[in-house]
Amino acid sequence: MEVIIRPTKRDAIRLAAQLIGKELKSKPHFVLGLATGATMAGVYDELARQHREEHLDFSRCHTFNLDEYVGLPPDSPYSYHAYMHRHLFSRVNLAPANTHLPDGMAADLKAECAHYEQLIRQVGGVDLQLLGLGRDGHIGFNEPLSALRSRTRAKALTPSTLAANAPYFGGDVAKMPRRAITMGVGTILEAHRCLMLVTGDSKAAILARAVEGPITSMVTASALQLHPHCQVVVDEEAAVNLQGQAYYRWIFENEPEWAPYRADAEV
Ligand code: F6R
Repeated sequence: MEVIIRPTKRDAIRLAAQLIGKELKSKPHFVLGLATGATMAGVYDELARQHREEHLDFSRCHTFNLDEYVGLPPDSPYSYHAYMHRHLFSRVNLAPANTHLPDGMAADLKAECAHYEQLIRQVGGVDLQLLGLGRDGHIGFNEPLSALRSRTRAKALTPSTLAANAPYFGGDVAKMPRRAITMGVGTILEAHRCLMLVTGDSKAAILARAVEGPITSMVTASALQLHPHCQVVVDEEAAVNLQGQAYYRWIFENEPEWAPYRADAEV
């Protein structure tokens, strides 16, 4: 695992989007794993900007989202289908047939989850999985005690996750689905590369547990420590509790792979 600390949220978002853009340019048939939520909105703004201003081409790219609420149709404004359409799909040249999210309305959820895994396998697996970090340490909607080898399945959301996402439902937790289909931790770990983006002081404590704490199903993001190619891009606010800050900064300042990105900070 590699932790990269950038001065501001904006810098962290830009770096994450640059890393994705670079991969997409080098492999047009890229399979990109996507996440939703507040943190990701800036990444999608930046990818849309790269498409508009730098002609970043998504035409042969396939996308697979981590999750979708159970019981919300794709045209519900609260669904992750709608989120993705708003933030990315309508703003770049992705072919609609190449974009995939689990179907939260499926009559047979188990079959839908197995089908989703099958679709991922058919395209050769996810090349890069973009991830955010939940306040309870989740990746996707793998809430505490999710098996670290879990596969795509329906999962009950914790009160902490419901509270965090209530603003998307007009602040009304009662309106929210209580379950979501999510890729499993095991599914996520099979991505060839993982990129987790974490910003803001509200994530500082859980980030330290995920990155530097023991691997535990109580913090499913900690399973990323097992991944052979996982980068965690964070801003200063999220990084405050990290014990290895000095070393992480040294890596960014000295490792040759980061040279093209060093001069890029806006502050
Ligand atoms: C949603 C997802 C979640 C979020 C996480 C952080 O698709 O994968 O794991 O990334 O809940 O959400 P924000 O960015 O809203 O704090």
